[in-house]
Amino acid sequence: MLLTVFGCSNNQGLTQNKNDVNKTIDQRVDSVLALMTIKEKIGQMVQYSGRNIKTGPDSNTNEKEKIEKIKNGMVGSMLSVVSVKNTSEFQHLVMDNSRLKIPLLFGYDVIHGYKTIFPIPLGESASWDLELIKKSASIAAKETAASGVHWTFAPMIDVSRDARWGRIMEGAGEDPYLVSQIGVARVQGFQGNDLSLDNTIAACAKHFAGYGLAEGGRDYNSVNIGEYELNNDVLPPFKAVANAGVATFMNAFNTLDGIPATGHKGIQRDLLKDKWNWGGFIVSDWGSIGELVPHGFAKDKYQASEIAIKAGSDMDMESYAYEDNLEPLVNDGKINIALIDDAVKRILKLKFQLGLFDDPYKYCDEKREEKDVYSIENQNFAREVAKKSIVLLKNENQLLPLKKDIKSIAIIGPLANDKNAPIGNWRAQGVANSAVSLLEGIKSTASPNTKIVYEKGCDLIPNNYKENKITTSKQATTDDANLQRAINAAKNAEVVLLAIGENAFQTGEAKSQAEIGFTKAQLELLKAIYKVNNNIIIILMNGRPMDITWASQNVPTILECWHLGSQAGNAIADVVFGDYNPSGKLPVSFPYNSNQEPFYYNHQNTGRPNNSHSRFYSGYTDKPNEALYPFGYGLSYTIFEYKNLRLDKTDIKKDDSIKLSIDVSNTGNMDGEEVVQLYIHDLVGSLTRPVKELKGFEKIMLKAGETKTINFNIDDKLLQFYTVNKKWEVEPGDFEVYVGGNSSTTLKTAFTITN
Ligand code: NOJ
Repeated sequence: MLLTVFGCSNNQGLTQNKNDVNKTIDQRVDSVLALMTIKEKIGQMVQYSGRNIKTGPDSNTNEKEKIEKIKNGMVGSMLSVVSVKNTSEFQHLVMDNSRLKIPLLFGYDVIHGYKTIFPIPLGESASWDLELIKKSASIAAKETAASGVHWTFAPMIDVSRDARWGRIMEGAGEDPYLVSQIGVARVQGFQGNDLSLDNTIAACAKHFAGYGLAEGGRDYNSVNIGEYELNNDVLPPFKAVANAGVATFMNAFNTLDGIPATGHKGIQRDLLKDKWNWGGFIVSDWGSIGELVPHGFAKDKYQASEIAIKAGSDMDMESYAYEDNLEPLVNDGKINIALIDDAVKRILKLKFQLGLFDDPYKYCDEKREEKDVYSIENQNFAREVAKKSIVLLKNENQLLPLKKDIKSIAIIGPLANDKNAPIGNWRAQGVANSAVSLLEGIKSTASPNTKIVYEKGCDLIPNNYKENKITTSKQATTDDANLQRAINAAKNAEVVLLAIGENAFQTGEAKSQAEIGFTKAQLELLKAIYKVNNNIIIILMNGRPMDITWASQNVPTILECWHLGSQAGNAIADVVFGDYNPSGKLPVSFPYNSNQEPFYYNHQNTGRPNNSHSRFYSGYTDKPNEALYPFGYGLSYTIFEYKNLRLDKTDIKKDDSIKLSIDVSNTGNMDGEEVVQLYIHDLVGSLTRPVKELKGFEKIMLKAGETKTINFNIDDKLLQFYTVNKKWEVEPGDFEVYVGGNSSTTLKTAFTITN
């Protein structure tokens, strides 16, 4: 059947013709909607996964049936179908067979790069460099779009405060302000200013909401937070990206105070869509509509579908719930067709914005794919991002940077020549074993006269380790011969670079761990090496804060290198030899050990804070209560001094603002970058307020000997919070303001706000 929509009658289906140029997207959406049957409408709300990449439990595996549905226009979107070849094959199924020929939307988890892999998001967040982060997202978008994919399920902006939670690696850490800033940068990078360009893709804010606070750090677990914590700590990044125009949201697996997020009308329909007036669509998480049943929130998929659509979930990812139940729900009078129309309009709108109705194959150009994906230019930028994501945690006696003509280096450890771990989890099309390893990076940067010896020392995980089985990784042991060779190598070297930590798949989805320390074998290796050579530089590769207490108390130098991506080894070498002066700052606190979790700097004071001089305080008596390395912390090869903290006023009225100034000097011998951080403490509130909250930061470059004055404007926007009146407002009273290079700074001044 040939259809004429907007005067079009070619086999491109609903392609707009020139006469439509002046029609708004909303009008075009309406004219398409007017042609659709209820089945076709529901089809747009269905998303299937491609065959080859599974990112959730198996659901419907009847591939034949799925293909038939796609051909009949009963599927609006596919996830995890990638490459020009595959996406165009699927697009043809719809364009060549369905009645209305509404193009498919292809989504994929492009979390830290498509094929050129950048540091894991938590690591990249340590750069505190918003332009850099935006650019890395834009390169990921360019590679993704060149491969036929229109939409990434990123950024993850779950404020995450528990290092045991495996998914902490996917976000920007524990602070709502930092997560908001980075979330917006990532959205801007993916989406650019115009979704219809062929190098931009739609972004997806996830997981709405509260997933980062899963109880006990156990993945998919319940979240039991109150209204105030939800509003003050969890929602701000989502509000920020909604304001920045993020195209889609994904809801979450967890319950929120007893209500599964996927079925939560209060946050999805009432808050996001109505109160915030956000016009995009919400995709469910994988199977999360169906999971309303095991949650005990719906008795079957029929009821689950009713709850989910009423709550505001527009697209069903892999639950196979909407396709069977929405029509009966309408027929039974349980839901109004208007709910379906609203969802479909939102979905069609994005397809129009992306230009898919103009050309469903516009992202399908194999030559472009060949040229844009994994280009040298992108690799160079990945090295840039990686080196800026490294955090220098300790550097006693200035062991780093090493001289390039150093006589000998022993490169030891299970991750020293690992080309896979740095690619990290959620690696999209990142090729296994494709990263530049530490060994390779050091070899290609050191002088040819430097003697470099490599020994693995021990395995990272035991041979019998199985993906997704209960891990016994903490029990991995050393074998004596391996260990002895490592000891010998260390004995004869000037310094040891010891690469230890976690592999790529010890963090990520369903990778929660009760203990966040090193495996037994790694700790044995570390201690054995330390006995014969103190000059150890730990190259920590990991996806979460780890318990590195012994190392931190004994080893002179520690570099936090996360899973740094394709160019890991080169980036580490840049820092090790001083070609780049490290400037990263932790986006999460490092506790002493697992038992302190959840751990975050911006907690409340309690009535008995542990700095009171009584023994009746809130805290552990057998373990430290502070961080091993606090949020915002990171050293440089040079020294920064903060002086002359001043305010232009100390008493202001509510709507007024204050200018804060601080002089920051580089008093060392090397040029370097510093992240100047601003924290505020609201002393008394209608709700108890955090002891400190990040409210601003600026990353600056200072030449050796240089001083710069940095200014911050403190206004209502920074001071307001969601108060007991259930409104965002500034409450008059006294405030302390802190400035420094990390969250434990004590340099402070104060001001008062009167009515
Ligand atoms: C489940 C994850 O929670 C989500 O983040 C991801 O985007 C989907 N699977 C699709 O892979």
